[in-house]
Amino acid sequence: MGSLSSSAFGPVKPSSFAVLLVLLLSCSSFSSTEAYDALDPTGNITIKWDIMSWTPDGYVAVVTMYNFQRRDIQAPGWTLGWTWAKKEVIWSMMGAQTTEQGDCSKFKGNIPHSCKKDPTVVDLLPGTPYNQQIANCCKGGVINSWFKDPGNAASSFQVSVGAAGTTNKTVRVPRNFTLKAPGPGYTCGPAKIVRPSKFVTANKRRVSQALMTWNVICTYSQLLAQKTPSSCVSDANQEDAP
Ligand SMILES: *[C@@H]1O[C@H](CO)[C@@H](O)[C@H](O)[C@H]1NC(C)=O
Ligand SMILES: *[C@@H]1O[C@H](CO)[C@@H](O)[C@H](O)[C@H]1NC(C)=O
Ligand SMILES: *[C@@H]1O[C@H](CO)[C@@H](O)[C@H](O)[C@H]1NC(C)=O
Repeated sequence: MGSLSSSAFGPVKPSSFAVLLVLLLSCSSFSSTEAYDALDPTGNITIKWDIMSWTPDGYVAVVTMYNFQRRDIQAPGWTLGWTWAKKEVIWSMMGAQTTEQGDCSKFKGNIPHSCKKDPTVVDLLPGTPYNQQIANCCKGGVINSWFKDPGNAASSFQVSVGAAGTTNKTVRVPRNFTLKAPGPGYTCGPAKIVRPSKFVTANKRRVSQALMTWNVICTYSQLLAQKTPSSCVSDANQEDAP
């Protein structure tokens, strides 16, 4: 290792070395920055995964995203991804769809909706046929802010998962959740098993509950969304910036 003052690029002035150092330090701090939105420090998007029934080879879940941010999630809306823990597949979905089916060639007869290890899900558009809808779906991924319009602050889809655990002891939570809402800048924490959600019927005469529930919390950071210097990381998502 040569000394600083005799590098191949000639003498390095202390001032330019300082600039380089600051740049390097800021690069490394970007990659370790916790998602944090200075304009909305407590804002978050909470994803709730409610298992509604077990099936012979998996389960049916309703996944609901709540926009606990001050601002709306505008068109083109949310995009949610995750990585399955094992070899799970999606037999079918209502109220949303995966963007790619992936390789389902080992299946005969019934072909899953998606066989991808890391599916990417988007909302369906308004005007979707009723038999493909569930409550709170099909708004093109738009979710209003809980603080402005609580009645329209959720977006849901139903997913039927196969090749999965069939009890609350054998089911595996998906990993590495990713969210664009609509652009980059979101960081999602791990899925955490929480107390099962309760559902009150419209006439308030009966309360049912999920068989099992896990939550994922995603938060937004302007730093991640806008200021990630291209000289530090090559961000494949950058062209999606709003
Ligand atoms: C998410 O936001 C909601 C509503 O402001 C808040 O009640 C909840 O504590 C927040 N969750 C986290 C983990 O920050
Ligand atoms: C799993 O189900 C059993 C009873 O069916 C219950 O006692 C237990 O708390 C559940 N565990 C989780 C993690 O939900
Ligand atoms: C999740 O992401 C981390 C870091 O990007 C990676 O090391 C890990 O292998 C991923 N896990 C899965 C199950 O894909």
